[in-house]
Amino acid sequence: MSIITDLTRMWLTRSVKPFTFRSEYDQTLPFAQCQDLGLYVHIPFCKQICAFCPYCKELYAPDRCARYLDALLREIHLVGGQSPGKKRATSLYFGGGTPALAADRLAQLIAALEEHFIITQGVGVELHPDNVTVPTLQALKRAGVTKLSIGIQSFQPEHQRTLGRPAPDRAAMAEALSQVPFETVSMDFIFALPGQTLDHLRADLDAAFQCGANHVAIYPFIDFSFTSSAVPPMSRREKRALLDGITRWCLERGCTRTSIWTFSRGGAGYSSMTRDNFLGFGCSAATLLRDQFKINTFDLDEYCKRVNGGALPTALTLRFTPRQRMVYYLFWTAYSTKVDAEAFARFFGVHLHAMYGLELRLAKRLGLVTEENGVYEMTLKGAFYYHYYESFYTLSYIDKMWGLLRAQPFPDRMEL
Ligand SMILES: C[S@@+](CC[C@H](N)C(=O)[O-])C[C@H]1O[C@@H](n2cnc3c(N)ncnc32)[C@H](O)[C@@H]1O
Ligand code: SF4
Repeated sequence: MSIITDLTRMWLTRSVKPFTFRSEYDQTLPFAQCQDLGLYVHIPFCKQICAFCPYCKELYAPDRCARYLDALLREIHLVGGQSPGKKRATSLYFGGGTPALAADRLAQLIAALEEHFIITQGVGVELHPDNVTVPTLQALKRAGVTKLSIGIQSFQPEHQRTLGRPAPDRAAMAEALSQVPFETVSMDFIFALPGQTLDHLRADLDAAFQCGANHVAIYPFIDFSFTSSAVPPMSRREKRALLDGITRWCLERGCTRTSIWTFSRGGAGYSSMTRDNFLGFGCSAATLLRDQFKINTFDLDEYCKRVNGGALPTALTLRFTPRQRMVYYLFWTAYSTKVDAEAFARFFGVHLHAMYGLELRLAKRLGLVTEENGVYEMTLKGAFYYHYYESFYTLSYIDKMWGLLRAQPFPDRMEL
């Protein structure tokens, strides 16, 4: 598996040098000069733990959650206070875990962030279907939340059983969402589950739109090495048929493809990933800046200890070589299915064709992308191969990084 990602990395970075993460970190983060800065806040509590889920989370306990949120406020002020005045930030996303469990304290967290940042494109929050109730939605709305992302996974009983998730109450969700509307209501689904057909996925998305969703995310099931789920993998051919089939179906129904796995109705958007730069707060949260990527400790107690002692909870920092940063940029920008040569040139000060002209010509020749006025757009075939490659990346990079950080709060070093 890692041979594919290693060779790709060497080819695209023109170097055998791996991505090297070290335990050192900057106490002052250089974000003041970053354009298009996103904000992410991680809240790692859930009322039920799903066996297949790789995220940093633990069972909800009110006291532990309160202690964590106090530390989170400290980290926000520690980092936010490093930039003079208020810095413009495009978006703010709360992920988890199940951040809606802290609905009554989100207003306080948002106010703390607004002391340092001007948030221009709204606030998003992840919910479990059980959180889709009128009181919780009202609390989120009062706090300033504008976008919801609800983890449905599947409306089909057989796939809910496979994933060990309870059946969401569709009628109750639809009623609550109609009483307390939001600009974006996104619903997450998982595909490539055993026995899943295109009809199942179509029925899922129909049900989502009927319940009030205007955005859907369809994630391929990933079997992480450190999770205990026993879901058998689907063959590449079947996966491709499902992904192509559901993409065509969404496009025929007037949806716009907003990324490899997301589709929108009426211009709604929900994406915490496709940002040029972002600051992450909370345990396991990552930060991406012009020349570095850093990730916080996954250990909640160590996180609180570090922050309460006035230090950043960074576990590992990767300082990019210029080519490594370009590859990282292209990988995540391509996730939106489009790469704009002009935006690349603005970000790096060099033309995309000068750096990757050969690769782009090859991708065009192979029918993976089309080009119009310097904007490269993935074809259906290109999107499938990106998706396919992304699963190698997830298993060789994210799985390894998260696996190590779950085992050690502050590892010395890691190479990818
Ligand atoms: C933090 S959870 C969403 C909110 C809430 N905790 C819930 O489960 O309803 C984020 C999303 O990641 C996706 N996810 C989790 N584990 C996955 C896996 N092993 N493979 C693919 N997607 C996964 C699910 O679609 C899930 O809704
Ligand atoms: S899928 Fe959601 S509810 Fe389940 S463990 Fe992961 S974050 Fe928690």
